[in-house]
Amino acid sequence: MNRRDVIQKVILGSTVLIVVPSVLSNCSKDPLSNAGTETLPGAGSGKITIDLSLADNSALNNTGGTKITQGIIVANTGSNNFVALASACTHEGSTIGYSSDETAFICPNHGSKFSSSGSVLLGPATTALKAYPISKSGTILTISL
Ligand code: FES
Repeated sequence: MNRRDVIQKVILGSTVLIVVPSVLSNCSKDPLSNAGTETLPGAGSGKITIDLSLADNSALNNTGGTKITQGIIVANTGSNNFVALASACTHEGSTIGYSSDETAFICPNHGSKFSSSGSVLLGPATTALKAYPISKSGTILTISL
């Protein structure tokens, strides 16, 4: 074994020592233990809460206001009603927005339109957006995943 071989083995060994602990720590996480604001959207996997009293969420206090969090667009549709839909357009994945004038969710890319229940009102999208149950208690919105 020459000097070059020794150096290569030391570098390779250091890389393994750095990578292995991070891989092991990710394997040990329980995806359901993060129920709350860190949970990724998926059926029955938890909930997302939004506190309307926080400045970051203040847009939701007005009709037409929206917030996008964890792949979900939340919109205040008026009269203390809120809607939560998957924010990625089912056509090609662009992020949709909400138009209170049209009471519809609109994709800026090719113009698909979705109703407040997520159904397609206008293509080219042909598949509905996933709708999430949302409720309000005091200043807290809760989206069930
Ligand atoms: S990506 Fe939304 S309509 Fe095409």
